[in-house]
Amino acid sequence: MKPATIPRSRPKPRARWLVPAALILLSLVPVIAGAVRLTDLTAGEITPDNARFFDSPVPVLIHIPAVTVYLLLGAFQFVPSLRRGKRGRPSWHRIAGRTLVPAGLLAALSGLWMAVFYDLPPLDGTFLLILRLVFGSAMVVSIVLGFIAVRRRDYIRHSEWMSRAYAIGIAQGTIVVVTIPWSLLIGPADELTRALLIGASWVISLAVAEYFIRRRARGSARPSGRPVEPQPAPSL
Ligand code: HEM
Repeated sequence: MKPATIPRSRPKPRARWLVPAALILLSLVPVIAGAVRLTDLTAGEITPDNARFFDSPVPVLIHIPAVTVYLLLGAFQFVPSLRRGKRGRPSWHRIAGRTLVPAGLLAALSGLWMAVFYDLPPLDGTFLLILRLVFGSAMVVSIVLGFIAVRRRDYIRHSEWMSRAYAIGIAQGTIVVVTIPWSLLIGPADELTRALLIGASWVISLAVAEYFIRRRARGSARPSGRPVEPQPAPSL
């Protein structure tokens, strides 16, 4: 069976790098927050605010490096030219994918572990716990479905599921975009509002991913008069 390939879009050269640049920008705050927490864990003192991390450091020591690799390296998977291998060599996309699948799974699974087993900090309630369980599990499922799709050489489904998984991850950056205007305009968020803002960040990020998934599906369905070139495997 002919593999389902992604139609090759031809954005202007500079525009190709806008998406990873925007994604890296969005990643910066959670990535820096993670680095600060790691420094705190290696060199800081135990306080009521960080005691849960000292009590059980392994999941957070897995979580922060995994999310950092996943968000920063994952941003480049959206550059079309990096999907093409040269002279029989595997593409950047394929090589990076072999790191991103375990990194994404470790990020989500360690997050789920902390959500279930860490003591809840003062502003984290049951509603936020439920949201973390739903979206953390959805990230695991999306990565697994994206992996299965690429093994079947169904590159369209692979791209769709991996985009959804990345959207769930990058929502940690969207939280900043959603929360700062709220804090400036309305004031500090209480427990319920904080959970709603974090939930909204996941929904917004997934809605943006769905928009691009559907736009590309419409683009590939539209007759262009030009045959669609098959694209080399954007696989793992
Ligand atoms: C891939 C993107 C992600 C990034 C960038 C990220 C970032 C972080 C960072 C920086 C911390 C440390 C927070 C602190 O120092 O107080 C953290 C903790 C945590 N993360 Fe993630 N995370 C991501 C994904 C997830 C997912 C999908 C879940 C869902 C289960 C999750 C659940 C948690 C939990 C429960 C904690 C501990 C929170 C606490 O006790 O304060 N994370 N994350």
